Amino acid sequence: MITGGKPLFGEVTVSGAKNAAVAIIPGVVLCDEPCRIENIPNISDVTVIANILRDMGAMVRRVDKNTLDIDPRPINTCEATEDSVRKMRASYYLLGALLGRFHKAKVALPGGCNFGVRPIDQHLKGFQLMGASNDLINGAIIELDASASFHGARIYFDTVSVGSTINVMLAAVKAEGQTIIENAAKEPHIVDLANFLNSMGANIRGAGTDVIKIRGVEYLHGVTYSIIPDQIEAGTYMAAAAATRGKVTIRNITPKHLESISSKLREMGCEIDEYDEAVIVDATQRPLNRVNIKTMPHPGFPTDCQPQFVALLTTVKGTSIVNESVWDNRYQYVSELVRMGANISVEGRLAIIEGGHLTAAPVKATDLRAGAAMLIAGLVADGTTDISNISYIERGYSDVVTKFQSLGADIKKVYYPDNNAATTA
Ligand code: EPU
Repeated sequence: MITGGKPLFGEVTVSGAKNAAVAIIPGVVLCDEPCRIENIPNISDVTVIANILRDMGAMVRRVDKNTLDIDPRPINTCEATEDSVRKMRASYYLLGALLGRFHKAKVALPGGCNFGVRPIDQHLKGFQLMGASNDLINGAIIELDASASFHGARIYFDTVSVGSTINVMLAAVKAEGQTIIENAAKEPHIVDLANFLNSMGANIRGAGTDVIKIRGVEYLHGVTYSIIPDQIEAGTYMAAAAATRGKVTIRNITPKHLESISSKLREMGCEIDEYDEAVIVDATQRPLNRVNIKTMPHPGFPTDCQPQFVALLTTVKGTSIVNESVWDNRYQYVSELVRMGANISVEGRLAIIEGGHLTAAPVKATDLRAGAAMLIAGLVADGTTDISNISYIERGYSDVVTKFQSLGADIKKVYYPDNNAATTA
């Protein structure tokens, strides 16, 4: 429940990156010794993936809010088919990790945020080239089998895909010979996963470019590894600072990962000061300008910040055009913003936003980043906005209510029976 109209001021510290954590935790399955993972975000997606590993036999111990000790040695199954697996998209990283460890994997098809068709053909193409057959069982479980021969391969992805790049990287780390991934995704969490795997003794070169070369190794030793800061959480607070016309210092960030977001905010008229591990967004100096945005794979403007920036642009005078080039259908939340008085029309991949004024309304989070957009809209709207389905938001944002409260927002979490019943699927 948010009462809007207060500019945000102060400091907020960004947590570890969700999309790195949900790849690195399954990556531990490949290790031959226990690992300690630090800077883990306090989000439900992490709890879900940690429980899946536990169900498979791993010893998982929460050392503190942000640290997990994981001993993967007791895992004695290549199957992850419980309902919980379907609850999050990233559980499909178990396909690559289990294939790498056991040369076989049987994993339930993923759930996750729903914004149109989310195929995994490129993942399967990669596994197939590495020697794995694949079967779809009852339309719900993927079974991979490379027990006859599991080897490196040259894989060209037809589309730039974060998930396929990560999954093939995981599988290739212990495969015999060399794997070359061409047209690889370059997101910061891909580099983070490669750094994690290399720190255990893997041989991966080129992560962060569009060609990644992986030479298989036999043994991976235990490490203590700290996850990178969350680029998208940072971008969300930056958008919120701008939307409320406040001034916020965002700490524990990597400015390089935020270049596309910082430059878009500068183009809008915000002052952005970058430090080694912090950025200050100051939107108090002048009225903000309309801008156009096109989402692209990294280093382009991230699709995972698109809804938050659409919410911001509803507050900026003039017509802004957003082009969503990554996902087919990531505007489901627009009708919620329209309920708050936003003037937005969607034509295919374009959203045309006529800036104006938002008024509070009961709205729902239709997915994780859509939920973040509702938070931003609620922070600027006149009156008190109720956001339901907040379990989506809790999948990806650590301590979001306390963090916004610390910036002066009038926000609180209220339990209604419906919210308690919401699932994370
Ligand atoms: N695609 C295919 N075939 C495939 C895989 C992907 O055609 O086999 C297409 C998709 O349909 C999409 C495009 O390629 O049009 C990009 O998909 P990608 O595989 O990169 O997405 P993902 O791995 O499923 C991750 C993030 C998403 C983020 C996208 C794009 C995780 C767990 N999820 O998804 O994050 O939107 O990359 O950057 O890392 C979020 O955090 O809110 C979120 C949805």
